[in-house]
Amino acid sequence: MAAENVILTGFMGTGKTTTGRRLAERLGREFVDTDELIVARAGRSIADIFREEGESRFRELEAQVAAELAGRRGLVIATGGRLMLDPDNAAALGATGPVFCLTASPADIVARVSADEGKRPLLAGGEERVAFLLQQRAAAYARFRAIDTGGKMAAAVADEIVAALALGPRETISVRHPSDSYDVVVGENLLPDVCALAGIDGPMVVITDSEVGPLHAARIQKPSFLEKLGFSGIPTLTMPAGEPHKNLDIVRDLYDQLLAAGVGRDGTIIALGGGVVGDVAGFVAATYLRGIDFVLCPTTLLAMVDASIGGKTGIDLPQGKNLVGAFKQPRLVLADVMTLATLPTAEFTAGLAEVVKHGLIADPVLWQRLLLEDWRIDPRRLAEDRLLRGDLATLITRAIRVKRDVVEEDPFETGRRAVLNLGHTFGHAIEQVSGYAIRHGEAVAMGLAAAAHLSATLEECRPSLPLLVEVILNDLGLPTRIPPALDPAALYAAMGSDKKKRAGRLRFVLLHDVGDVFVRDDVPEVAVMAALEAVSRTSINNQQ
Ligand SMILES: NC(=O)c1ccc[n+]([C@@H]2O[C@H](COP(=O)([O-])OP(=O)(O)OC[C@H]3O[C@@H](n4cnc5c(N)ncnc54)[C@H](O)[C@@H]3O)[C@@H](O)[C@H]2O)c1
Ligand SMILES: [Zn+2]
Repeated sequence: MAAENVILTGFMGTGKTTTGRRLAERLGREFVDTDELIVARAGRSIADIFREEGESRFRELEAQVAAELAGRRGLVIATGGRLMLDPDNAAALGATGPVFCLTASPADIVARVSADEGKRPLLAGGEERVAFLLQQRAAAYARFRAIDTGGKMAAAVADEIVAALALGPRETISVRHPSDSYDVVVGENLLPDVCALAGIDGPMVVITDSEVGPLHAARIQKPSFLEKLGFSGIPTLTMPAGEPHKNLDIVRDLYDQLLAAGVGRDGTIIALGGGVVGDVAGFVAATYLRGIDFVLCPTTLLAMVDASIGGKTGIDLPQGKNLVGAFKQPRLVLADVMTLATLPTAEFTAGLAEVVKHGLIADPVLWQRLLLEDWRIDPRRLAEDRLLRGDLATLITRAIRVKRDVVEEDPFETGRRAVLNLGHTFGHAIEQVSGYAIRHGEAVAMGLAAAAHLSATLEECRPSLPLLVEVILNDLGLPTRIPPALDPAALYAAMGSDKKKRAGRLRFVLLHDVGDVFVRDDVPEVAVMAALEAVSRTSINNQQ
């Protein structure tokens, strides 16, 4: 089979053509530059095409070239700055190979293209205009894997891409904590390599649940040292799936099994599953023999963007959720997006609520991506659609960075980390009063809507923000309206029992704007009730 294409996109002046040429040389491939191809075929410059036939004609020519190149393989393709921003072009070319988006600062861009001044009308206006355009296109480019070209020669950027191609689709985010740091790797087909990536060279055991184990545990490959010692496989301990099993009985049972398997202090636990498995296995790893190593392999969207980052582990007591736990940092987190292809759609959608939360907390680009892109998907599509997998990987990476930045600033939850509770003061009350009939992610979606209404009621944000928040959540398939059976007064009472309460006062995370949140603990009851009433009414789009 012919090699895949490699596609380069990015703003003008990021070096797509020079890097692409270098890369093609390095890989021994044919190089195609879509702008050059269009100019050669039309027999006139792009500026002339624009002047004589208008921009729409140029976009037509781009679409033709994209469709044609999508039928070929083994190419390095440098695309015009906006070609891949067209969804059809992106779908056509993105199916043929990995896409890299070259990035650079406005100053670098202006410096690089200044030699061409005059031929590049977009650059009139200098750095300020470039910064403006970059900001406008940031969300559209953000779906592609970024390669920073700042201060680098084209050859060095090409080297970086060669290295990235050799590793396959994966990106690493480093998380610092008070005693060390660990990597979070987001990518495809990571599970087989977990032992090598984590550098495990001693005994290991997989902890998973009854749903995930049969689907994914076999993909973890036995390291060669085990093979040499004649061991047949990696012991796998399977707990029943679901939140009701995140309890002390399961923990005791796992201790017994670890002892029976002879796992000592040099052992490593590989947690394979959603947030429940991660929390249980993490708690076991924190306490068994006073602590052994553990690696997290989250298999739900929620666990990837939220539960696996930050070092909190915990279990539930009959009196409430997460009442017992420990801070325990993993040795490595591997978020293999391939595992999400088997996730039930409702679980995927629920995880999106935490992605929305992270966008609202600190990342307007992430937020815009949720507006621009269609994430109401059947996760099974991930198995076939490489562009979708790539889009999801970059989305997850951004969401993880938001949580990473917050937990690095506040590793033991004494300050800033409170912002991660956006939507959760309401959300937890909704879960509790519904008797946990409402999924966490759905309750968080309602909670985010309520928090936005509360912010508007208190005049902390513009009056239109709550509606925007609701529209985004609804578009993702998430509910924003509290079912009529849940009485606002009962919800308010339930909030009073939330364990995040400070000195007897309710704390709320509020919004000034997207990406700008803060904590207030002097919110009057009447304002909270008004917000609850607002999200209890039937919405404009007839959702109940
Ligand atoms: N430690 C933290 O910082 C933190 C943060 C947020 C949430 N949490 C905890 O996370 C838990 C929720 O996590 P969750 O939403 O991942 O729930 P979960 O672990 O219960 O997973 C949801 C369901 O999906 C199944 N599943 C998981 N991955 C699958 C896959 N790839 N294919 C098919 N089925 C799959 C599970 O078996 C389960 O039935 C809660 O207990 C919550 O308290 C912890
Ligand atoms: Zn949550």
